[in-house]
Amino acid sequence: MIVRQTDDQDLDSIISVHESAFRQNDEALLTANLLIDPSAVPRLSLMAVVDGRPAGHVLFTRAIVSGAEPGITASILAPLAVIPEFQGRGLGGELIRNGLRQLTDKDTDLVFVLGHPAYYPRFGFRPAGALGLIAPYPIPPRHADAWMVQELKEGIVGTVEGRVICANALNKREYWVE
Ligand SMILES: CC(C)(COP(=O)(O)OP(=O)(O)OC[C@H]1O[C@@H](n2cnc3c(N)ncnc32)[C@H](O)[C@@H]1OP(=O)(O)O)[C@@H](O)C(=O)NCCC(=O)NCCS
Repeated sequence: MIVRQTDDQDLDSIISVHESAFRQNDEALLTANLLIDPSAVPRLSLMAVVDGRPAGHVLFTRAIVSGAEPGITASILAPLAVIPEFQGRGLGGELIRNGLRQLTDKDTDLVFVLGHPAYYPRFGFRPAGALGLIAPYPIPPRHADAWMVQELKEGIVGTVEGRVICANALNKREYWVE
């Protein structure tokens, strides 16, 4: 398995990975929109390839913490997908770890995700709301732990608070229901 950055020619493969993993096309459409959204830049789009076949994809797009100093940089992980045939073999984890390494190299301070509270903590994420980092749309209290953050530079969490502003294509209430 290799993980590589995607380019324009990968669009069809990316769409089909998301359609196959989510068994619907909402996330594929969101991904296609984020890939052309100027407000999503800087963006990191990674594909997991197994024996030459696209098997997984993850997208990280720009976020801003309102109220934070302009120098604080952030990203949101969404969406992540591995095709059913390859699930449970570590591809999802490898895509996340690879992305976090690249974002660290690019001096990103914070990474957010809205996702399964049993999955993402194993990669270093922890609930963000209790730390004063508020999701773009309100998360119901019973799902509060699904909104998570990870600092890639030590000492950032606790010094910044505020609402997180995401890319325009992701800024729709329907994407913030966990
Ligand atoms: C979630 C997903 C990306 C994980 O990718 P993957 O390659 O199968 O995951 P990995 O092989 O890295 O990790 C497997 C582990 O994650 C756990 N896991 C997978 N999906 C999970 C979920 N939804 N909630 C909690 N744990 C989950 C598995 O139980 C397994 O645990 P184990 O290591 O203790 O056996 C993949 O299952 C998928 O595409 N699902 C459909 C789309 C989706 O839900 N995307 C995530 C949106 S937040």
